[in-house]
Amino acid sequence: MVGQFITFEGGEGAGKTSVLNSVANQLIEEGYPVLTTREPGGIQIAEKIRELILDRTHTEMDARTEALLYAAARRQHLIERIKPALLEGNIVLCDRFIDSSLVYQGYARGLGIDHIYEINRFAIDQFMPDLTLFFDIPPSKGLERIAANKGREQNRLDLEDLSFHQAVYQGYQLIKERFPSRIQTINAQLTLNEVIDLTYKEILRHLNK
Ligand code: TMP
Repeated sequence: MVGQFITFEGGEGAGKTSVLNSVANQLIEEGYPVLTTREPGGIQIAEKIRELILDRTHTEMDARTEALLYAAARRQHLIERIKPALLEGNIVLCDRFIDSSLVYQGYARGLGIDHIYEINRFAIDQFMPDLTLFFDIPPSKGLERIAANKGREQNRLDLEDLSFHQAVYQGYQLIKERFPSRIQTINAQLTLNEVIDLTYKEILRHLNK
């Protein structure tokens, strides 16, 4: 692949989406070709799958169904959007990718990180991000931020209790141990401007390697 595939990960309220948009603008101003996208979603079919998964009324959704739907959305997103953009030489900044499934479905839902890795290997073959940034904030603080941000969409996973979000946090620690060279941690408790600055520098360091 010619471009660079960079993913943003973290629990709820870590601020990664605002940081992603801001860093993308900075990179574009510096003349880098950038594509921003998100999971689940990014293209029409996957956005429809997103609606299905996150619909607050779908409380009966089975955990394995959820895991398969995320993987299906990821497959389509990769083929239709991510790979073509990388072949054109873009830096692709993606809000969540496989690590979210490993952590949320594999660990927090208890389906097993290895099982979810297998499903996703079928969906995306060996394709993994070049760099992953983990936005580190204690779950209780992240949830406080969400509660303060009334304009944010509330989805089915936001209805989970604090223990689920704590499991998500623990899951990310395991994933970091598993992929130490790919995943870099950003302190997301700092001010938004400081987090943006750290993120931008980390991406430039990666691009100049
Ligand atoms: P977002 O709030 O970052 O847009 O993500 C939507 C929700 O979907 C969030 O609660 C995390 C969850 N999610 C998973 O559980 N597994 C996945 O594979 C992905 C991509 C997201």
